[in-house]
Amino acid sequence: MCGIVGYIGDKQAQPILLNCLARMEYRGYDSCGIAVTGGSIKVCKDVKRVQELTTTMPRIGGLAGIGHTRWATHGEPSQVNAHPHLDCSGNIAVVHNGVINNFQKLKQQLVAEGHSFVSQTDTEVIPHLIEKYYDGNLEEAVETALRDVEGSYAIIVLAAKEPKLIVARKDSPLIIGVGDRENFIASDVPAVLDYTNRALYLEDGDIGIVAKDGIVVKRGGTRVEREEHRILWSVEDAQKGGYEHFMLKEIHEQPRVIRDTLGDYTQQNGSASLMDADIKSLLILACGTSYHAALVGKYIIEDLLNIPVRVELASELNYWAPSLAGTGALAITQSGETADILKAMKKLRGVGCPVLVITNVVGSSASRIASQTVYTRAGPEISVAATKSFTAQLMVLYWLAMSYSKADARRLADMVMGIRQLPNKVQQVLDNKDEIIKSAKYLAGYENAFFIGRGINFPIALEGALKLKEISYIHAEGCAAGELKHGPFALLGEDIPVIAIVAQDNTYEAMLTNIREVKARGAPVIALAEEGDKDIDQLADSVLTLPKGDAIFSPVVNTVALQLLAYYTARHRGCPIDTPRNLAKSVTVE
Ligand code: G6P
Repeated sequence: MCGIVGYIGDKQAQPILLNCLARMEYRGYDSCGIAVTGGSIKVCKDVKRVQELTTTMPRIGGLAGIGHTRWATHGEPSQVNAHPHLDCSGNIAVVHNGVINNFQKLKQQLVAEGHSFVSQTDTEVIPHLIEKYYDGNLEEAVETALRDVEGSYAIIVLAAKEPKLIVARKDSPLIIGVGDRENFIASDVPAVLDYTNRALYLEDGDIGIVAKDGIVVKRGGTRVEREEHRILWSVEDAQKGGYEHFMLKEIHEQPRVIRDTLGDYTQQNGSASLMDADIKSLLILACGTSYHAALVGKYIIEDLLNIPVRVELASELNYWAPSLAGTGALAITQSGETADILKAMKKLRGVGCPVLVITNVVGSSASRIASQTVYTRAGPEISVAATKSFTAQLMVLYWLAMSYSKADARRLADMVMGIRQLPNKVQQVLDNKDEIIKSAKYLAGYENAFFIGRGINFPIALEGALKLKEISYIHAEGCAAGELKHGPFALLGEDIPVIAIVAQDNTYEAMLTNIREVKARGAPVIALAEEGDKDIDQLADSVLTLPKGDAIFSPVVNTVALQLLAYYTARHRGCPIDTPRNLAKSVTVE
């Protein structure tokens, strides 16, 4: 999704803005641009990667500027639609992340008043509105302009001769990075980590006046204080650290992520008020990969807490009024900024439903809407395909379920032992990936695949298919193994491999039957199975052998194996693994 950056300070803005934009590439974009003022505004923007823009653009002198990576929503990716956008005079430039819902109406009014537009974007109305209201006080003009605007936005306004940037947000992410005689603005923390680890988070409706020497935040014209936070993520966290791709690095970080996330909860973060409240049922909502974590959560929580759990896609929850009596809600979102989840959370809060959010981003919008926040400790996840954030979410779900479990003490003691062994088991998968790499090479030659699982590993089949399709562009479907015969069988044959997740639990025999059925239709089978499983060796064409363990934790090791399978398959196919086409890391539009 779009990313915005701003700089004001003692240094030349151009290289800093371009570096910040490069750090935001992972959010997904189709075009990019910057505007810098050294007394007059100069803009350079195009349908290019940041690196290409950097090498082809002229030097622009100036100590303040703004930049943008665009993910097209209104108007095709083109030079003219790329941000920054200017007013008629060329003295006001704006970058924007979000959607202005009433832009057509505003545009018609502005055109009638003599403004001329050059792009098809919704954003372009903002500089023109500011121009309309500007009478010497930029921040007041911005505030008045935003009163006309309906929709979501994080904006930075640059004026040719003003020694400050004006920022504002509503339902779109924005942080202010605090420096020494310089300040930074960005959509998210990794963009500014090279320069500072101090940040301010604006509330919806705040206007920030960011100068070289200070930051003032106002609301309705009155000054308000916003606390400065220390960012725990390091520069190294947001770099590849010798790995070819962020995705591979992030897959390899999972033993550490499991330890950190569990360590956090067992040591300090001991209670979840939602679970302390006397709730009769739980609703879990999420999107994308987080939705798959939610589905695993259903199995774990129903097993250990004995309360009904339903899982809903946040994007669907917005279209009907679920019955919520006695229900507590759990929202899962890595970024904390996914538009669909924010909308659904607001709806639930609006009808008095308590919402606990599990998120990876401190200060994210979701954490402000929720009644309580539990943070995962995954560190910044840069690759578009979620990996370590998913594992961290699972860890929180295990922790929640185990902390409030109604299971007997013996079962819990076994689970505590099992969960402590998880980092080592994941490490074993990472250390023994030859077989996975071999299977990936084989899979890379196909255009379709099915992933099947049962029980707690059914969501992992969905997640395995999602990982494969998003980064390798192979069409992949996740399927409950028992459902194959209700439709997908019609497609099966030697040209569609089936990846089967075989767990040592009450689904085992049924899975073997399903694999036999698949084989009978000529489809090649790659099985994920525990070491020592002799039956599977006889059945499958190849077996990815995984460490033994308590089946309730098998989703973790199985997922790591499937992440590696997707990664190496995409690599064989020469795909842009960290930035798959058409996808964005944080989807801030509905
Ligand atoms: C995007 C990302 C996915 C992610 C989904 C939900 O589609 O590409 O990796 O799972 O959003 O994001 P969230 O931040 O809410 O977990």
